[in-house]
Parts: sequence; structure tokens; C-alpha cells
Amino acid sequence: MSVVRQVPPSSPSLSADASLPFCLELVMRYQLTPIFCRPWTLNGLSLQLIESHYENNYGGDLRRLNAIAEKLESLDFANTPAYIVNSLKREELIALNSTLLHELYFASLAFGDGRPTEMLARALTSDFGSVDRWRDEFVAMANGLAGGSGWVLLVYVPRDRRLINQYAGDHGQAVAGGIPILALDMYEHAYHIDFGANVKAYVDTFIRNIDWNAVQGRYEDASKLEPPRPLVQKEFADLPGVAVEDVKAMLDEGKPVQFIDARPRHYISRTQDIIEGAVWRDPERVQEWARELSKSDPVIVFCVYGFHVGCSTAAALREAGFDAKYMKGGHSAWKAIGGATKIHT
Ligand SMILES: [Fe+2]
Repeated sequence: MSVVRQVPPSSPSLSADASLPFCLELVMRYQLTPIFCRPWTLNGLSLQLIESHYENNYGGDLRRLNAIAEKLESLDFANTPAYIVNSLKREELIALNSTLLHELYFASLAFGDGRPTEMLARALTSDFGSVDRWRDEFVAMANGLAGGSGWVLLVYVPRDRRLINQYAGDHGQAVAGGIPILALDMYEHAYHIDFGANVKAYVDTFIRNIDWNAVQGRYEDASKLEPPRPLVQKEFADLPGVAVEDVKAMLDEGKPVQFIDARPRHYISRTQDIIEGAVWRDPERVQEWARELSKSDPVIVFCVYGFHVGCSTAAALREAGFDAKYMKGGHSAWKAIGGATKIHT
């Protein structure tokens, strides 16, 4: 599906010297994507089923999406009640996701032996334990939608650089930032003509007809995407930090860690909690309290959010010869992972 902008029939035609005002009157149109699979080659899925699905359900949702887009374009948002705007935007989300997922569904099917390519087999084994384990979960999720409706998707998550199976109870549910590379439509219209209520037979047939070469192409494209940019503190780029989960694990295991809360004095004076096992020290007076520390055990220091105070303190300690690191995300990160705190006295 691609998006084009069209001039409404009533609008004047574009002219080079007056393009900008007229651009604002353009109406967005989503264009149909031709069916990707060759329906006559599929094993166990009838032409009637695929055609009805493509023409009535995919096509219907595309037409609905364009009608919604047109309606939205016509709205004067400043003077339209919020419930009308919200309901149209909600419908737009459902229709847009439905068309995107249907296009993926039709691009997930081909005649073949149902076996993943070598690259996909390696990826599935790495992320699920084995191809069988992936298939068992995928099929169980699909069969679990018997009598209901929804989608089962194989999704690449760039942040984690891995594949997951995702359930979507309706068209609006999707993993944010995830890239679906395989889609199984579990709405009744996707199978009823051929399979009646026999969901299991439909799911087995789908699995047999997966176009693994196409899935691999999408996987290769998706896995090239960089994960979301991590926080980089250029001024402390060389300073070693420790993830808050790792700090908690060290403490839980009873490892000898000197755990220093270096939140600024003005902050600590109006806060009520302190991390259990941490000792507060004034970051303004590092040279004084550093003498109490042992050089043989590691020091982990943190501030409120893990920015400059904790980093500066850790840097000062390292300069003084301590094995000091800062805790990424600071006190807030500790609380965000459910780490224990106590009343600060
Ligand atoms: Fe469908």
C-alpha cells in the first residue's frame, strides 16, 4: 500500500506559482497493493477464499481507510468535538493496521515445503530455542483464537535485535517499533469458506503454505535496522557504568560492593527514600569521604538519574585510584526495576 496525495475534484489544478496553498487542499489516498502471493499455487486454500478475503476484507478496509482519511481532511479540528476526532482517529488506526497486516498476510503465502530457510531456521533457533519451539508457540497462539478473532504475527524487534511471536486481539494492537515479517489472519473470514469452524486445519494449512523466502527477505531488511539510539553521555564516554539490574544482582548475591548514593545535598534533604544497602555521601565532598573507602572492593556510585553528578563522582574516585563505576539511570532506575528502598533518616 502506498500513499498518494490527490487534488479533490473541486479544487483548482496545481500551478507552479501557487502550489503551496493548493497543497493544503490535497486529499490523502491510500493505494491498493496487488496481491503478493499466487493464489492458484497454494496448497489447501481455495481461490474463492483468497479472492473473497482480498477483495472484500482487504479491499473493504482500504476503502474504509480512504473514506476516513477524506473525512479527517474535511474536519475543522478547532471546532470539531473531541469525541468525533477521537473516534475517527481510532477507526483510522484500525483500518490502516488492518490493511498493512492483510498485505503482509498475502505476502506470507506461497506453495512450498513449509520449511524455513536456513537463515530463518538459525534465527528462530536463536530466539525461540528451536524451529519446533517457535512453531509450537505460533500454532498454539493461533489455535487459541478459535471462536474469536485476531492476528498472530512473527515480529522483529530492532531494540532487542530478536524475533517474537505477537498476538493481536484486533488490528490496533502492535508492538511499538516492531516489524512484522509474517502474519496469520485468524479472523473468521480468513478461513470459514474452506474450513468452517475447523481452525486447526486452517492453521496447519497456513503453516504448510508459508513463503519462507519472502519471510527471509523481510527478516534481512528488518535486521538491518539499528535499535533505538541509546543514551550517550559524550562527556563521560569513557567512564564505565553498570546497568541497574546488574548492580541489584551483585547486591543480591552478597558481593562486596561499596554502594554510594551521591545525590546532591539539596535533593537528599527533601527526599524520603534511599536505596537499601546504599550509603549517602555528599558529592561536593568526595575528597573527604573517599578516604573511608577500600581500594580492594569495587565502588558503585549513583545520583538521581545517572547523569553528571554520579558520573563526576565516579570519575573523581577513579582518579583517586578506586575501582569506581556509576550506576546507569541512578536512583530512579533502581526504583523503576522495583528495587527496595527504605526511609531516609
Ligand atoms: Fe482478514
